[in-house]
Amino acid sequence: MSNSISLLGLQWGDEGKGKVVDVLSKDIDAAVRYQGGHNAGHTLIVDGKKIVFHLLPSSICHKNIKCFLGRGVVISLDALFSEIDDAFEFIGDIKERLVVSNAACLIQSYHIKIDQLRERSRSGTKIGTTGRGIGPAYEDRVGRRSIRVADLFDPKVLKIKLEEALDIYNFLIKRHDETQQEDLNELLDLNLKQAERLKPFVGNVISELKKYKEEGKVVLFEGAQGALLDYSLGTYPFVTSSNSSLGGIAPGAGVSATSIDYSLGISKAYTTRVGEGPFPTELNEEIGSYLAEKGGEVGASTGRPRRCGWLDAVLLSHSVYLNGIDGICLTKIDVLDGLETIKICSDYSSALTREEILESMALNDVEPQYVELEGWQEPTAGIQNFNDLNDQAILFIEKVEELCGAKVVMISTGPRREDIIIREYPLKR
Ligand code: GDP
Ligand code: IMO
Ligand code: MG
Repeated sequence: MSNSISLLGLQWGDEGKGKVVDVLSKDIDAAVRYQGGHNAGHTLIVDGKKIVFHLLPSSICHKNIKCFLGRGVVISLDALFSEIDDAFEFIGDIKERLVVSNAACLIQSYHIKIDQLRERSRSGTKIGTTGRGIGPAYEDRVGRRSIRVADLFDPKVLKIKLEEALDIYNFLIKRHDETQQEDLNELLDLNLKQAERLKPFVGNVISELKKYKEEGKVVLFEGAQGALLDYSLGTYPFVTSSNSSLGGIAPGAGVSATSIDYSLGISKAYTTRVGEGPFPTELNEEIGSYLAEKGGEVGASTGRPRRCGWLDAVLLSHSVYLNGIDGICLTKIDVLDGLETIKICSDYSSALTREEILESMALNDVEPQYVELEGWQEPTAGIQNFNDLNDQAILFIEKVEELCGAKVVMISTGPRREDIIIREYPLKR
């Protein structure tokens, strides 16, 4: 079976990736984050305790797994260290188990400031970012002026790069707020201090992953955000600034684009979105609030309420196609327990064709067309065997498979590790 498995969100994030990573972790040797930063919030419930990871791969809780932060991740060292400190209590020292690429780009305080200042001043184009400096940090990466991990260990280069950065950022910041200027020496001192703490974690991710591959070990690539937030393929401009689709793995981790053996897609049994942007199946009335409350739909990073709506199979099947999905894990089916009717969007009516809509992701003026299914009263919550599901829930799952063109290989029936139905296990045991 598969040695390299990718695990991606197929919607607008928060599909339950952290929980599914946790389920698979017992059978993997290494885990890699390859894009995004601490905008992610991946929740695990372990022995009744809630743990949220933002930057560390969720597999870090499993003591025998080596974890990697690849070159495509944008790293706030403040966020990384505070996560390592928070995690110490339940996973102990991770020095031997975490490798940070020396080519990863850093999020500096000025990225965070400008992200927040811009968002505050925007009216029509407000994105609703997490305010964590992600967009500006990636702008610098593409603009070839990022400060990378390796630069931290060359004080001369670091000073020059920080000087150049402040030349731009203090100018930009001033436009919004005169009082928030950044000081070069303070920033340099902070970076040099943080470099000392980071040193034992810094390594060569590409060659280490190559070794894992040669030894036939199992490596999991943990996506952050979701396919519809990909800056190239998603609902631009209401996206994040990285490739959160399958294509982000090769350049973000440093592996070949053909090296993924199994692409696992995670989708909720309904849809949620945090922040601004089009959302055709959004429900503002009673059922929307029902899903939000029952699903605990509050952002794991920012605490913002998540917008809720029916499953959109037009977008889901598009994500399945673009990400070469071999199997879907459908999560939070238990949240639908007790509804009288359940809808799935199977098409849009619009002046544009479906092809035109998906090319431009122009979702503002589409009218969702739904298939309506009978709901179920018999709970699915906590079920671990497919045959224990009620008939309506099985019909719902089969409808999802039919509309999306992929098999639902796993079904998550609750937030805990053990709340899972496995129909086809994507890894070798
Ligand atoms: P991620 O960003 O994709 O890892 O997802 P989040 O952790 O941000 O959000 C998913 C939320 O749903 C978390 O609070 C999980 O504990 C919870 N969760 C995951 N799977 C299930 C499930 O099958 N049922 C229920 N009720 N909750 C789930
Ligand atoms: P996980 O990994 C849901 C959204 C933000 C905003 C947009 C851009 O937990 O699924 P950014 O700060 O990235 O520039 O914000 O992307 N966003 C997420 N939404 N889950 C996430 O991560 C997200 N990360 C970013 O809400 O709409
Ligand atoms: Mg999340």
